[in-house]
Amino acid sequence: MSRTLQRLLVAGAAGFIGSNFVRHVRRTRPGVEIVVLDKLTYAGNLANLIEFESQKGYRFVHGDICDSGLVDALAAEVDAIVNFAAETHVDRSLMDPFAFIDTDVRGTAVLCEAARKHRHEVFLLVSTDEVYGHVAEGRSVETDAFRPRSPYSASKAGGEHIAHAYAESFGLPLLVTRGSNNYGPYQYPEKLVPVLVTNAIDEMPLPLYKDGSAVRDFVYVEDHCRAIDVVLHEAPAGGVYNVGTGVETNGLQVAEAVLDIMGKPRSLIEFVADRPGHDYRYALDISRITELGWEPQVTLAEGLERTVRWYQSNEDWWRPLKSGEYWEYYRRNYRPLVS
Ligand code: NAD
Ligand code: TYD
Repeated sequence: MSRTLQRLLVAGAAGFIGSNFVRHVRRTRPGVEIVVLDKLTYAGNLANLIEFESQKGYRFVHGDICDSGLVDALAAEVDAIVNFAAETHVDRSLMDPFAFIDTDVRGTAVLCEAARKHRHEVFLLVSTDEVYGHVAEGRSVETDAFRPRSPYSASKAGGEHIAHAYAESFGLPLLVTRGSNNYGPYQYPEKLVPVLVTNAIDEMPLPLYKDGSAVRDFVYVEDHCRAIDVVLHEAPAGGVYNVGTGVETNGLQVAEAVLDIMGKPRSLIEFVADRPGHDYRYALDISRITELGWEPQVTLAEGLERTVRWYQSNEDWWRPLKSGEYWEYYRRNYRPLVS
């Protein structure tokens, strides 16, 4: 099947993945009109979208996905909503869980309600592999039960449950992508890869929780955005798709690769106190999305190289972010060294 959508409401696109998605759609589907709705939290950044500001067919609206009046008015003008808006960082969810519940659960419900009311052709919820929780063995398939273990993943799972309930109860034409760990340009320097890269640029310690052995599936952000675009346009309503590479890498391997690319010593790696409730492994079975014709194109080695070069060339983007509140959060999060 193939779906033509002329006007999209992209929520949360001032953040990392959403801004990369807008870039992808502008490049590949220049005729599509885009309205961005974003609250501009600490993670939202208009600099991520600056290149589109004066373009025809692009509009930015500053607002909250929990604001049902605003969401309703914007939903009336578009064919579909793609939702990236969320509180997204596990470590912050351990400090302030309620912000996550408000946006990731209630905000998702507000968007579902608007999509239903305005009879949109599809509603795409950008979810995460973290809803499956820690996976000791094997790989998660889309029909597996949710076992979230952090306030972040529980809130994402809650939002997904609401969306599935809207699909079952009200016929909402729902699409869900469950992406693995993204990395690449414009990622706020609190997630693993940009913490490692920006600290290494400044020759600061690279903090790894416990012994750096926790495993993730790192997908380059452009590959993830292409997958969301394929699902949005090609997948039958009701589809849920894991999006990852199928490659397992631990934190220590990522840190060593970053330091090698930058020619910096491995002695910069510092093992710090573990994250409470740390999920030690996520692993995805990606066969379902490959049936839509998508596969990852960027290897981790290539993607890390590109990411390092981007942060090296764009200090103007990330240096202002590493100030004030950032360091308060940083000091609170990275507790004393584990002996
Ligand atoms: P991010 O933290 O970089 O950006 C989130 C954006 O949402 C920001 O622009 C923020 O201002 C906005 N936002 C937050 N609350 C809002 C609200 N109430 N109303 C409107 N806007 C609001 O996040 P990201 O890494 O780009 O992730 C985007 C989406 O992808 C999230 O839903 C996340 O759960 C999901 N996801 C992320 C990853 C990853 O590795 N980063 C992996 C899989 C899925
Ligand atoms: P993160 O980027 O926070 O993503 P996730 O939501 O998957 O936890 O962390 C990725 C992995 O890296 C996870 O196992 C925690 C670990 N990690 C560190 O070891 N040090 C850090 O400074 C950060 C941010 C994460």
